[in-house]
Formats: sequence, C-alpha cells, structure tokens
Amino acid sequence: MTDHILVEREQGLLTLRLNRPDKLNALTRAMYSRLADALTEADRDPTVRAVLIAGSDTCFTSGNDVEDFLKVPPSSLDSPVFHFMRALFELSKPVVAAVAGPAVGIGTTLLLHCDLVYVSRDARLKMPFVNLGLCPEFGSSLILPRLLGQARAAELLLLGEGFSGEQAAAWGIALEALDDGPATLARARERALRFLELPPAAVADSKRLMRAPGREELRRVITEEGELFGQRLRSPEAVEALSAFLQRRKPDFSRFA
Ligand code: COA
Repeated sequence: MTDHILVEREQGLLTLRLNRPDKLNALTRAMYSRLADALTEADRDPTVRAVLIAGSDTCFTSGNDVEDFLKVPPSSLDSPVFHFMRALFELSKPVVAAVAGPAVGIGTTLLLHCDLVYVSRDARLKMPFVNLGLCPEFGSSLILPRLLGQARAAELLLLGEGFSGEQAAAWGIALEALDDGPATLARARERALRFLELPPAAVADSKRLMRAPGREELRRVITEEGELFGQRLRSPEAVEALSAFLQRRKPDFSRFA
C-alpha cells in the first residue's frame, strides 16, 4: 500500500490519482501494484460503474521510474507493470483519463487503452522509448500506426518526438483539449459521472464490442513488445541512456554498432 496512489470513491466512480509530486509522479513497482489491485477490484465490484485516472493539475506522470528501470527491470510478463496494464486492458468498465503537464512513456501508452481521454492544451506527451534504448510497449507499435498513419507514428515512436495536448486531441489520441489542469479534471470527472446514470451491462457489452476487432493480434503484439522491452532494458544502450538521465548528462551512443 502506498499513498503515491490516491484511491477515491464517489458513489459509483472510482478515481485513481498519481501522487508522487517530488518525482513528477514517476511510476514505481509499488504504484503499479496498487493500480493493478484497484482495477482488478473495480472490475469485480458491481457498485463501481466507471474509473477515472488522473495525475495532479500540472503533471500526469514522467513515466516509469528510471531508477527502478535500472535496479529492478521487469523480469517477466508477470511483473507489476504488466499486472497494471493487463488489468487496464481487460477492464470491462469504462476508463476516463485526465492529463495535464508531462505524460511520458507509459503515461502516454496507457491512454491508448482508456475509453475517454481529456488533456490540457499544454500537456506534454512523449514516448521516448528508442531514445532510452527501448522499444514501444503495450500495443503502441500496432495501435499508433493504425490511428495516426505510419509517417506520424514513426516520428513519435522512432524519434521520440514530443507533442502537445492540442495535437493529441487533433490526432484522436485524446478527445478534447481544455484550458488547464483543473478544467481538464472537471471535464473528465463530469463525463465519468455520466456512466453512473447508464445501464452498466449495456456499457460493458458496448465497450467489449468496440474493442473486439483485432484484439487477439493486439494481445500477440503486447507479448512480443513485452519480451523485447525486457531484453532491451538490460542492453548496454538502455543502461547508457538511463544512467545518463540520472547523471543529468546527454547519453553517448557513439560506441554502439
Ligand atoms: N523516474 C525517476 N525520477 C524522475 C523521473 C522518472 N521517470 N522523471 C523525473 N524524475 C525526477 C528527477 O530525477 C527529479 O528528481 P530530483 O529533483 O530528485 O533530482 C525530479 O523528478 C524532477 O524532474 P526534472 O527532470 O528535474 O523535471 P523537468 O521539469 O526538468 O523535466 C521531464 C520533466 C518529464 C521532461 C523530465 O523529468 C524527464 O524527461 N523525465 C524522464 C522521463 C522518462 O524518460 N521516463 C521514462 C519513459 S519510458
């Protein structure tokens, strides 16, 4: 149990807030486990009708904790990050996300598995996997080229180019870009609360139908990405990139073939 994840309940709405401000909500193994448990429990609990995932008014998350990546890289598809993402992927109930400020790495990837995503205009989304010696994760190598086309997906996934909340909304990664963090959370919360008025089985059936096409292929890609990601985390390229971040220097990849 960690207070780095705040779990709030408002009637049938379960809100999960990332709350590790000194590290810009970087996600640790303990945080993934807490999120996974909360989502699994939400799926079982008939009184939970919707889930809202948010960070603070100025930061969603800086992604996986870099120190954790170096010290305890996920060793198998059974690690806490997989429990969390699998619980999100399998959740039968609607998930709404509110994103302000940085949403790095898994902070952007997880949005691809939420149902309604609201962002602040100046949110800063980024998937710097290649830059860190890693590779795309949790289906993003399949989902993003389909959603955005190969050209734009290549810029985001191969160059690790960052983009704004406004761009995320224009490209269909998010639904709407709002003025700031509080406005984003308010819109997301208002939309999430609407599910409390809807018939839950109809919502669940509809979500399942919408996500059914290509689901087996997506599962296969998630497994392939996960295995490769685990190998890449232990590669000299990743060790150089992650160490450089912690040492506040530019990584040097010149010695790699
Ligand atoms: N893991 C661990 N610590 C992190 C972190 C992460 N992913 N992201 C930020 N932090 C820590 C910093 O080390 C710093 O800690 P310190 O004050 O104890 O030195 C603190 O959070 C603030 O970060 P800082 O980099 O100084 O903030 P910034 O506003 O200059 O930059 C970011 C914000 C998000 C652009 C930058 O922190 C960043 O690039 N983070 C790493 C993102 C990343 O690579 N994530 C993994 C993706 S797979």
